[in-house]
Amino acid sequence: MPKLTIRDLPAEKLRGQRALVRVDFNVPLDEQDHVADDTRIRAAIPTIEYLLDRGARVVLLSHLGRPKGKPEPKYSLEPVSRRLAELLPGRSVSFVESTDSDEALKATRALKDGEVLLLENTRFLPGEEKNDESLSRTFAELGDLYVNDAFGTAHRAHASTEGVARHLKPAVAGLLMQKELDYLQGALDHPKKPFVAILGGSKISGKIDVIEALLSKVDALLVGGAMACTFYKAMGLETGKSLVEPDRVEMAKELLEKAGTILILPHDATVAPSIEEGKKAKAGSRENISADMGMLDIGPRTAESYSRAILSAKTVLWNGPMGVFETPPFDK
Ligand code: 3PG
Repeated sequence: MPKLTIRDLPAEKLRGQRALVRVDFNVPLDEQDHVADDTRIRAAIPTIEYLLDRGARVVLLSHLGRPKGKPEPKYSLEPVSRRLAELLPGRSVSFVESTDSDEALKATRALKDGEVLLLENTRFLPGEEKNDESLSRTFAELGDLYVNDAFGTAHRAHASTEGVARHLKPAVAGLLMQKELDYLQGALDHPKKPFVAILGGSKISGKIDVIEALLSKVDALLVGGAMACTFYKAMGLETGKSLVEPDRVEMAKELLEKAGTILILPHDATVAPSIEEGKKAKAGSRENISADMGMLDIGPRTAESYSRAILSAKTVLWNGPMGVFETPPFDK
């Protein structure tokens, strides 16, 4: 998967230039609006520092959550800008509460070499997820070159990921994107066997292509997260208050038939009445999820058998969490 990256750009393409960098700062925030897990922010630092060290002016775009095309204060990136400033000591990091405004454009033009500006959540704009042409052009005005370092969002053709790259050149990959693609290519082209994939997260809808692509390559595909419940539903099991994608149940059925014994679902589940009622969590067989409970994590038997499969593997590809990892006891 050869890609042009920031390393391919000559110094004069960076010094004094506004590098518009799409990052994936879709991070969990706690009740005090502090970043609860800054892994994704840290992961973007090498690209940001690479650009700053070469005299570029860094303009960052990201989404946070799923605000559905209108501003929602709880999804503001302002708390993220505070954490970013802590992770870039000695650097100027500013934040503007808009993305497609004159104010945002002016702020990008006022940046000095080596400074960073984070703009507000791209998903506050209705055109972002529609990959709107005019919004893509507006984003393109915010930089002199485009860098996509948002690996976690690279599967979405949105205005800030796909659309903007058509209008702003050069358009290159960042260091995180390159690192992830290198690992992924190695894993997919020359996996050392046994090759085990772990897939979690809430939805199978976003992962259907991944599942299909992996089935022919892996020795085992271990499924966790709420997406397991859509498969349970397809098997005719009671899923109670678990998150299920009703419109994907048929698709899940087809996948189960196609996958045979390669696709492995959790045998037991950790369930609770809600995420907030972790004290009432209990583990039990997947056949016994009652109507007033929802699956919020895999169960201990599954954790043990998945661990064994992972330990015996020579290549492990992991995408997505097994449960509500932000909240005890589902973080176990
Ligand atoms: C993620 O967390 O999976 C990415 O940031 C993409 O978010 P999305 O699933 O809301 O598009």
